[in-house]
This record gives sequence, C-alpha cells and structure tokens, in this order.
Amino acid sequence: MTVDRAAHDITLEGRIALVTGAGSGIGRETAHVLARAGAYVLVSDVDAERASSAAAEVRAAGGSAEHHVLDVRDRSSVRTLVGALIERLGAIDVLVNNAGIVANTAAADVTEREWREVLEVNLHGVFWCAQAVGAHMLERGAGAIVNVASMAGIVALDPQPQVHYNVSKAAVIMLTRSLAVEWAPRNVRVNAVSPGYIGTELTKRGLCNAAWAERWMARTPLGRVGTPRDVANAVLYLASDAASFVTGENVVVDGGYTVW
Ligand SMILES: NC(=O)c1ccc[n+]([C@@H]2O[C@H](COP(=O)([O-])OP(=O)(O)OC[C@H]3O[C@@H](n4cnc5c(N)ncnc54)[C@H](O)[C@@H]3O)[C@@H](O)[C@H]2O)c1
Repeated sequence: MTVDRAAHDITLEGRIALVTGAGSGIGRETAHVLARAGAYVLVSDVDAERASSAAAEVRAAGGSAEHHVLDVRDRSSVRTLVGALIERLGAIDVLVNNAGIVANTAAADVTEREWREVLEVNLHGVFWCAQAVGAHMLERGAGAIVNVASMAGIVALDPQPQVHYNVSKAAVIMLTRSLAVEWAPRNVRVNAVSPGYIGTELTKRGLCNAAWAERWMARTPLGRVGTPRDVANAVLYLASDAASFVTGENVVVDGGYTVW
C-alpha cells in the first residue's frame, strides 16, 4: 500500500482564508501563519487601521493578503461582505472566527449593556460569520471553520471576574460541536482552538497585575505565557487537510492549565 504523504501535509496552498479580528494579537499572527502556508488571507477587523496594517505586514513578509473592515456583530454587514468576496474570488475555503473581547467586571456589577456587548462579539459574531460563510461551504461541499474559543469556556478562571466572557466561550465550544455534527455530511469541518493565557492586548492588563499574573503562571504547568504563534499553529493544523478527519474538536493550547 502506498501512502499519499502530500494529502497530509500542513499546507493551505491555493486556499482562501477569512480571519476576523485579524488586526491584533492571535488573529494578526494567524494571518501570517496561514499566509506562510500558502493561503490568500482576507484580513478583517472592526478597526480599519489595524486591518490595513496587518494585511500590509503579511504582504511585506511575502504573503498574499487584502484587508476589510468588518464588525462581526453586524449580521447584515457580514452577509454583504461574504457575498461580495465569494462573487469576486469564487470561494472561501477557511474561516477563522477569532474576533473577541473581554471585560473584567464582578458578576454582581455587570450591566445589561456590557453583558450584551460581550455576547454580541464573542458568540453572536461567531455565529453570523459561520452562518454566512458556512452556507457557501455547504453548497460547495468543502470548507473548514476554526473558532477561537478559550480555556475560559472549560474552567471558570480566577482571580479575575469575567462571567460573561466565560459563558460566551463555553457557548462557542458547543456551537462548534453543533455545527460540526450538522455540517459533517456536506464535508464542512468545524473545530475550535481554546487558548490559555497568551501575551496580547487582551491580557495586557492582567499580565501587568502582579497578583493575577502570579496566579496565572502558578496554574500553568509549562510556566510561561503563550505566544500568538502557539495558537496560530493549531489553527493552521485544523484549517488544513492534515485535519481532514477532525471535526467538532476543541484543541486546547494552554500550557497545561486545564490538566489539573
Ligand atoms: N489572549 C489570550 O490570552 C486569549 C485567551 C483565550 C482566548 N482568546 C481569544 O482569542 C481571540 C483573539 O484575542 P487576542 O488576545 O488576540 O485579542 P486582541 O485584543 O489582541 O485582538 C482582538 C481583535 O479583535 C478585534 N475586534 C474586537 N471587536 C471586534 C468586532 N466586533 N468585530 C471584528 N473585530 C473585532 C479587535 O479590534 C482586535 O484587533 C479572542 O476571541 C479571545 O477571546 C485570547
């Protein structure tokens, strides 16, 4: 029996990948990693300057990318952009739902506005994008979606309060499983990556807080803060055909935090 090794290489040669929240941190690094693997990357972010500079950075590094302003909370903008991209480019092979926000407010003090804001970006935004791009993937009978969830969707983190964030990420993990089951018969894979503490804008405040940072590292067996690259490499694997038999999975990239 011969083994077709090429079919299992981690490559995105010739693929088109849309990344949300790609102007900073994990999303920005994911744009680089996917581009290096051969993808044409659609760099999107709610912040226009971040989106354009991230795409320019990918191109300067030798990759192929264009940028778009996209607020994932806005279902109609999501549908308009995705429709226009498919019309022009013919396909979106990979969707990385990465955009996310955090708020560290004690549960008793969370306002309705803040609760809705976190859920709208972290959960509703993931669904609007998955629904718009997924419809097209189902029609083509091919596609891979990777949702950036969090270990906060598995364990209740402390000492920082973030009930709405934790809930949103737990929901993303179940959204991932639900879509995976529904869409597997049409060859659309849906997986999640759940980062632990990664050094980005999102964790800057916590990492500057000695009490929090000390607690975070004491609970992380590998004893360091993760890098956006640590997460982006897992995204790349799940987005590629190397993961063609993997769906509904949640790959935890947390330095071992959730092990004990
Ligand atoms: N950094 C961590 O430790 C960590 C841990 C677990 C999960 N995550 C998740 O990883 C993802 C990326 O986080 P990060 O750490 O890179 O954060 P980040 O703040 O560095 O980047 C997030 C990006 O999302 C964009 N964004 C915010 N709201 C948006 C919206 N409505 N529409 C489109 N884009 C929007 C921001 O402009 C920003 O560019 C998030 O989903 C986050 O919850 C991060």
